Amino acid sequence: MTTQTASAALSDALVFLRQFTRTSRSTGAIAPSGAALSRALIRHVHPGGPDQPRAVLEVGPGTGAVTRHLARRLGPYDTLELVEANPHFAHRLSNALHRDPLLTALAPRTRLRHGLVQDQMLGRYDSIVCGLPFANFPPDQIEAVFRQLFAALRPGGRLSFFSYAGGRTLQKMDRRQAAARHALRTATDRHLLHSELVLPNLPPARVHHLAAPTPALCRCGGARHEEQDSRA
Ligand SMILES: C[S@@+](CC[C@H](N)C(=O)[O-])C[C@H]1O[C@@H](n2cnc3c(N)ncnc32)[C@H](O)[C@@H]1O
Repeated sequence: MTTQTASAALSDALVFLRQFTRTSRSTGAIAPSGAALSRALIRHVHPGGPDQPRAVLEVGPGTGAVTRHLARRLGPYDTLELVEANPHFAHRLSNALHRDPLLTALAPRTRLRHGLVQDQMLGRYDSIVCGLPFANFPPDQIEAVFRQLFAALRPGGRLSFFSYAGGRTLQKMDRRQAAARHALRTATDRHLLHSELVLPNLPPARVHHLAAPTPALCRCGGARHEEQDSRA
C-alpha cells in the first residue's frame, strides 16, 4: 500500500466511524469492510468480454471499500451501478470516482445513485453485491429489498451479502433482532449457494452467496413465503 492509499484508507475509516456515531442503524458498522471481506463479497463477480459485458450492482458501497475491489475485478466492457443512501458517503464516493487512481478507469462505466435502494428503479444485473446492514432493518423492509434485488438479477446471476458473525445467540437477542434474523432467513435460505466465514475483519463476518431464483420460483412467490413461514 502506498503512503497516498494508506492515508486515503485512514481518512475513509475516520469518516465511516463519524457516520456510525451519527447514524449507527443505517451505517451498520464501525469500519469499512476489510480486504478479506471485500474479496469474499465479490467472489462470484466475473469479468465479461466485448460480446458479453457484465452488469454489476453494488448496494450500500459506503466509502467504496468493496467498490475498489470490484474495479480491479471488472473488465473494460463491464458496467457498475452504485446505490448509496448516506449523502456524505455518496459525495465522497463521487469524488473518489474522479480522483482515486483505483477507480478512475471505471468511472465512465459507473453510475452512482444517491438514495435508498427501495426508492430506485433498478436495471438488470449479472451480479449484485449488497452491503446493507440487514440486522437493523424491520422484517417487511428486508423482505421488500430481497424481492427487489432478486427481480433485478438476471437468470444465472448471483447475489452476495454479509452479516456480522459471532452475534448474540437466539436466547440473548431482543425481539427486533430476532425478527430481523427470521426475515433474513425466510428471504434468503431457499436461494443459498454457500456461506463463508471471514475472520480477519472488524468485526468478523459471514458472507452469503445466493443464486437468482428460477422463473418457476418467481411465479409462485406468494406460495413460497407461506410455505417458509409455516416451516420457521
Ligand atoms: C455496513 S455499511 C457497508 C459499507 C461498504 N459496503 C463496506 O463494506 O465498507 C452499510 C452501507 O449501506 C448504506 N445503506 C444503508 N441503508 C441503505 C439503503 N436502504 N439503501 C442504500 N444504501 C443503504 C449505508 O449508508 C452504508 O454505506
